[in-house]
Amino acid sequence: MRTLCQHIFDLAQNSINAHAENIHIIVDEDIAKNIVKIVIEDDGVGIKPEALERVKHAFFTTRSRKKRGVGLGLALMDATCKRCGGKLLIESQYRYGTTITATMEYDNIDRPPLGDLADLYTSLLLLSSEKKVIWTLEHKINEKGYELKNKIIREQLNIISFSYKGIRKDIYKYILEKEKEITNNS
Ligand SMILES: Nc1ncnc2c1ncn2[C@@H]1O[C@H](COP(=O)(O)OP(=O)(O)OP(=O)(O)O)[C@@H](O)[C@H]1O
Ligand SMILES: [Mg+2]
Repeated sequence: MRTLCQHIFDLAQNSINAHAENIHIIVDEDIAKNIVKIVIEDDGVGIKPEALERVKHAFFTTRSRKKRGVGLGLALMDATCKRCGGKLLIESQYRYGTTITATMEYDNIDRPPLGDLADLYTSLLLLSSEKKVIWTLEHKINEKGYELKNKIIREQLNIISFSYKGIRKDIYKYILEKEKEITNNS
């Protein structure tokens, strides 16, 4: 079974492919309301109104064959949301950006596990060293939460270059601490 992190990685990849400069991801686990909500908001090229209806369909892609766009990222997420008593909402303004909102029932037996969010967020932050993406990465569990931004990570960890050995481990450890703060007796 895929994890929610694998889904989120696919959708973040879509935002990068859309040349987004700012990408905002929120993973919100509201256990009292029995909802997991994932929001991915970008300021990329957006989706043309005439394509908006079709982007959820399997095998719809605007990526070239050379870049191996299969057209399954949104279709798979849509299927997962529906199977778990939720839905996938796609809002986009052509040339301005796109917001994808996925919801699922928290306790649905078909809901994929979240996976290693600290590992995913580490990977995304490291991607930005080449791609120049400004990330805002959030995780909320009930009333607790944390937010990560490239600039703040760089300052807090005293990072001068993103290319030194061990950077991955340092960022991962930093995020794991944040995870601990919000998972402890929440
Ligand atoms: N954030 C986004 N900004 C702009 N267009 C998007 C975005 N997300 C999806 N799209 C459009 O929807 C299409 C389908 O996306 P989807 O993730 O399902 O497939 P893909 O990215 O084309 O291929 P794959 O994910 O299989 O590599 C994309 O080709 C693109 O045209
Ligand atoms: Mg995709």
